[in-house]
Amino acid sequence: MTVRRVDGRLAAPEPGWSVSADVVVVGSGIAGLTAALRLRGQVDRILVVTKDVLGAGSTQWAQGGIAAALGPGDTPEQHEHDTLVAGAGACDPQAVRVLVTEGPEAVRELIALGAHFDLHPGGELSLTREGGHHRDRIAHAGGDATGAEIQRALIAAVVAHAPEIEVVEHALAVDLLVTDDGGVAAVTLHVMGEGQHDGVGAVRCRAVVLASGGLGQVFSQTTNPAVATGDGMALAYRAGAVLRDLEFVQFHPTVMWLGSDSRGQQPLISEAVRGEGAFLVDWEGNRFMQGVHELGDLAPRDVVAKAITRRMIETGHPHMWLDARHLGDLDASGASVSGFWARRFPSILATCRRHGVDPETDLIPVAPACHYASGGVATDLWGRTSVPGLYATGEVACSGVHGANRLASNSLLEGLVFSRRIAEVLPRELRPWAEPVADTREPGLVDASVRLVLQEEMTSRAGVLRSASGLRSVIGSVDRLAAAPATTLGQDAWETTNLVTVARLLAGAALVREETRGSHWREDFPDRDDPRWAGHIDWAILDGRPCEEFHAAAPTDELLGVTT
Ligand code: SIN
Repeated sequence: MTVRRVDGRLAAPEPGWSVSADVVVVGSGIAGLTAALRLRGQVDRILVVTKDVLGAGSTQWAQGGIAAALGPGDTPEQHEHDTLVAGAGACDPQAVRVLVTEGPEAVRELIALGAHFDLHPGGELSLTREGGHHRDRIAHAGGDATGAEIQRALIAAVVAHAPEIEVVEHALAVDLLVTDDGGVAAVTLHVMGEGQHDGVGAVRCRAVVLASGGLGQVFSQTTNPAVATGDGMALAYRAGAVLRDLEFVQFHPTVMWLGSDSRGQQPLISEAVRGEGAFLVDWEGNRFMQGVHELGDLAPRDVVAKAITRRMIETGHPHMWLDARHLGDLDASGASVSGFWARRFPSILATCRRHGVDPETDLIPVAPACHYASGGVATDLWGRTSVPGLYATGEVACSGVHGANRLASNSLLEGLVFSRRIAEVLPRELRPWAEPVADTREPGLVDASVRLVLQEEMTSRAGVLRSASGLRSVIGSVDRLAAAPATTLGQDAWETTNLVTVARLLAGAALVREETRGSHWREDFPDRDDPRWAGHIDWAILDGRPCEEFHAAAPTDELLGVTT
């Protein structure tokens, strides 16, 4: 398949300043800050760069929690089983084994670092359940503010270790500069602001750890914050790294519906609310998840998102409803007896009320919205990408743990576990200092004005429900949008170019995969097709041209003898 789009380098001014650091960590969520903290003392100079302020990424917004086999009776094998089943045959079994066996220790370390998780009165971790889990194994903090607490603890630790770990905020990573062996030599940054560095500069370095999060802003409605514009994936791809499984984008089933015109980041209603007993109903009050899956309202996310979407299509309504009223234990006067909502889900309660819905007395309008990129920059079990000196961790990476559909609350864990692993190998793999070769790639830039149209096209044709005709049409549109020459350089245009780049690859992979698997739902190929499609679709630039390649791999849930 031929692809026409911006895949040289981002058009940007020549670097006006230059500094050096042994390791540059791009991104400041759980993955980036864990990598920086674990590398401390092992390499001389660590620079964390982040596009906004330290706490502005996706970690901050995680509600439900972090999954690990920490509860009585639970085992890594059971967690492994649930992860493989949710991944619909497309996980890397070795990566999953790493995740579930190293996860409990990684969470204990996070607690030792200062993250306060919710406890039972006896002092044991309070664990809850989310979709696809057969055990209570989700540790949470502040009720539904798990990510915010983890982010707080990690920032405190990083700040305590300045200047060993240096931080530059408001810094967009523009492109990698490479040596003559194609390995990392520097990263160019655009720093907005005051401070020592301003405008575009280069950080010479011996390794880069990409931890820059996902691509949710490719779609019109997402739970992701505004910074999630696929920058890390696009930068890695332009530098020659392999991107894998981009078609597997998870849509969270219960995102608060704020109206058909609402755009950008939308409020998440955590799956943990269903874990505590809430259930979905249609406009006539029917519990439509019953009979769809043995786990009912707690079926894996793709199953619930599809059931909601089907019901929306069948009934012509723009959303369904979540009934969580009984969680409040109201007395006859309508007052909450137990204070359950305020204690367990204080942030969601406040958000719903801010939007005029009281979950103690009202149904919550919900619809699926883009939540998580299960694919990304392909890595091995140690976070290494195909570009020497470039590592990736967290949502930007495709480590293989999520397959076609991420199990709830496995994402914070993935960032934690694989960043620890990177810090184990990277210090002894540090590359010698080397000059970057002249960057001869064609510069390109897409006009920032196309972003809204791009999001609308992607949402209507490459979102929850896909078909060959819709995908061909969206690919044509993206290619046309990519040709809109930018009139102004700047963050908006760089981000839009990155969005266009990842959108095109995502839609291309979705068109190629002629089956339905996990979060990839093809109307025209409604069944999973292991003989043809068990495996991964990779994108990479080879000899200056974008190439897509399918690699067959044994379906991993079959290894467990699980039927789907
Ligand atoms: C949620 O709280 O429902 C989201 C958790 C996750 O995405 O893993």
